[in-house]
Formats: sequence, structure tokens, C-alpha cells
Amino acid sequence: MRILVLNGPNLDLLGKREPGVYGEATLAEIMARVVKRGKELGVAVDAFQSNEEGVLVTAIGRASGTYDGIVFNPAAYTHTSVALRDALTACRIPCVEVHLSNVLAREDFRHKSLTGPVCIGQVAGFGPMSYLLALEGLVDRLQSPVAAPRKGTRKKRARR
Ligand code: DQA
Repeated sequence: MRILVLNGPNLDLLGKREPGVYGEATLAEIMARVVKRGKELGVAVDAFQSNEEGVLVTAIGRASGTYDGIVFNPAAYTHTSVALRDALTACRIPCVEVHLSNVLAREDFRHKSLTGPVCIGQVAGFGPMSYLLALEGLVDRLQSPVAAPRKGTRKKRARR
């Protein structure tokens, strides 16, 4: 199993960037922890960061056929990018959205995620641990996919 961990804009500045919000660990330190956890789980993890929306769109588009799942912190593009949402929908690879901070406890403009609804789940607010929790959840889902409800097995609504 192969997992791509994608990081969006300004996450290359972790360690120096608003440590009160994002902590003191650098992106390289966090990614090393994710790769190590991947090894323990028996999965290969590749990490990639870009500040450019188009580069992230291309990375997602190229992930098909190489990766089984994506852990993605789209950073500020979470709240703005239709292009990244469309790329995630098109690639059809299960993705978990990650945030270091609890975006729902911050400014209103961070409450809306354009990418979240096309992901299988979201982890936010646990600092670097958010990535590890996302990886665990994604690997678990890939190993035992949730069965889709079979046609005709839905309970009929009671007549009023
Ligand atoms: C972030 C939250 C975003 O709102 C912000 O723009 C980021 C980082 C996080 O990891 O908490 O750059 O994605």
C-alpha cells in the first residue's frame, strides 16, 4: 500500500510560522513521524509540499495508479479551491483532510472547507498528531472498506 501525504501553502514555514497556532515542529520533522508510522503500519509514505495550487492539482491528478490513498493538508486552499476539490473528485483516490489547528475554533472564513466534502474524513486540531490519526484512519479504511448499502436493502419509510 502506498500513501501520498500532500501539504499546501505556507506549511514549508512550520516551526517558524505562528508557533502559538501551529506548534514548533518543522514540516520535515512531522513528515518523518508520518513516514515512521507508515513503516509500522506496513505502508509506504511519500511526502510532498507546494505553495502552488496548480502544482498540487497536478500531483493529485498523477496520483492515480501509484497511490492507494492521500492524506492532504490543503492549508489556505481548503477554504478557496474549487480546482483542488475537482482534482480530488476526479482522481477517485480516498483522501483524508488534515489540519494542525482546530479550524472550527478559528476565524469564520476557516469554517468552510471546499475540499472536505469530497474526502472520506477530516482530522483537525491535534497538531502533528492530526497527520498520524489521518494516516491510521485511511489505512484502516483501505484495508476494510465500508460496505456500500446494497440496492433495495434500505428500510422503507413508514407510511404516515
Ligand atoms: C491549516 C489551517 C488553514 O486554515 C490555514 O490556512 C493553514 C493551516 C492547519 O493545518 O491548521 O495554512 O490547514
